[in-house]
Amino acid sequence: MQTEHTIAGIRAALAPRRKQGERIGFVPTMGALHEGHAALIRRARNECDVVAVSIFVNPTQFGPQEDFERYPRTLEADCALCEHEGVNVLFCPSASIMYPEGYATYVAVERLSEPLCGRSRPGHFRGVATVVLKLFNIVAPDVAYFGWKDAQQLILIRRMTEDLNLPIEIVGVETVREPDGLAMSSRNRYLDPESRRRAPALYEALLQARRAFEQEGVTDCSALAQQIRNHIAQHTGGRIDYVEIVSLDQLQPLTSVQKGNTLIALAVHLGGARLIDNIRL
Ligand code: PAJ
Repeated sequence: MQTEHTIAGIRAALAPRRKQGERIGFVPTMGALHEGHAALIRRARNECDVVAVSIFVNPTQFGPQEDFERYPRTLEADCALCEHEGVNVLFCPSASIMYPEGYATYVAVERLSEPLCGRSRPGHFRGVATVVLKLFNIVAPDVAYFGWKDAQQLILIRRMTEDLNLPIEIVGVETVREPDGLAMSSRNRYLDPESRRRAPALYEALLQARRAFEQEGVTDCSALAQQIRNHIAQHTGGRIDYVEIVSLDQLQPLTSVQKGNTLIALAVHLGGARLIDNIRL
């Protein structure tokens, strides 16, 4: 595995492969890699000739009161995981390379960045879209892999890619979970033992809503959302940021479940962590 820290370096590493007509797969990450990231890398490995991974804790997507400073940085273990999963090129730029003095350009994906996590994290998706477009321009992949764990991010990146006519295929990979159902996340390590024990209730609440829809025929979104809130309140004691049922394509609130176009998404503050999860109906 080749590790590059500069833009010229990563471009030089990939240029000959591209010239040979090889298909380049790209997995952007912020590091603290886990099985969720590994699933994206494996999918890229299976579908592409070359796999590039980036590790960059992107300052522009963190709010002033958020966890940028304490975000886990585990570069040595991350390198080992990438090596083990057969990554060809690892790109680890510094903040000053990505955002040099005088940096002034940002990408706004309108509407899709406003609801759900956009409401409680103003500016977050502007930072995400900006860094992902920069990484796309630097790496110039044929395919890029994103997790459904961050459904709003995936949907927004798809929109940006289409709107800006980027010749990149965006692939969504299903959420990888712990055996007890908790969605894997770099932020799970913030959980104290008691909160960790309670955290699987978030996914349980989502599964209960799926059962209510599929087996009992409940289609009313406010009833389903209320059932989810009750379950979370009862079983976690966490502070609910949002529980919303929206359309998959526009992220607009639904009154009634539209089969195949429904996203149930939630964010909950639990024991020092802000956890997100979602399912699709
Ligand atoms: P990060 O949180 O490191 O996640 C990198 C990628 O891994 C994202 O596409 C995310 O959805 C995916 N991922 C994380 N946990 C997952 C899980 N349990 N199952 C499946 N996929 C999972 O998302 C970011 O970084 C950043 O916003 C980034 C896109 C790199 C831009 O800075």
